Amino acid sequence: MPYAIKVNGKTHNVDVDGDTPLLWVLRDVLGMTGTKFGCGMALCGACTVHIDGVASRSCITSVDSIKAVAITTIEAIGATPAGAKIQKAWLDLEVPQCGYCQSGQIMSAVALLSSNARPTPAQIDDAMSGNICRCGTYPRIREAIKQAAAS
Ligand code: FES
Ligand code: FES
Repeated sequence: MPYAIKVNGKTHNVDVDGDTPLLWVLRDVLGMTGTKFGCGMALCGACTVHIDGVASRSCITSVDSIKAVAITTIEAIGATPAGAKIQKAWLDLEVPQCGYCQSGQIMSAVALLSSNARPTPAQIDDAMSGNICRCGTYPRIREAIKQAAAS
């Protein structure tokens, strides 16, 4: 079935089943492979994108449920004010290790700073609690969010 979905400011016409997860539309249909597959069950955060500015798990979001909303992915998040600050802090503090979880980490961090420019340590921990990093980069993630908030 044809769907028109708006990703990073551009409307794409895709022809998929309505229950196809947004993650697979992004990766397999649109070729945007920055958003990662981890668990497929909303448990790891690797697939996080913004849906109308809200950090959302694209692995459990069906394309049928997102008809009239704006989706932002890691490919375009650097063009937003909070995204630019977060990406600079990530680079300054060399946050990633293997990198696999980092797209999702950045998307959650940007959603936090977009809604709360000066988050407390507890608010940072709460906002990032759904993003798992098997390499244990959590201390650098926290520091990078603090640096971005202070910049
Ligand atoms: S792949 Fe979506 S939360 Fe893990
Ligand atoms: S940097 Fe390797 S899983 Fe997070």
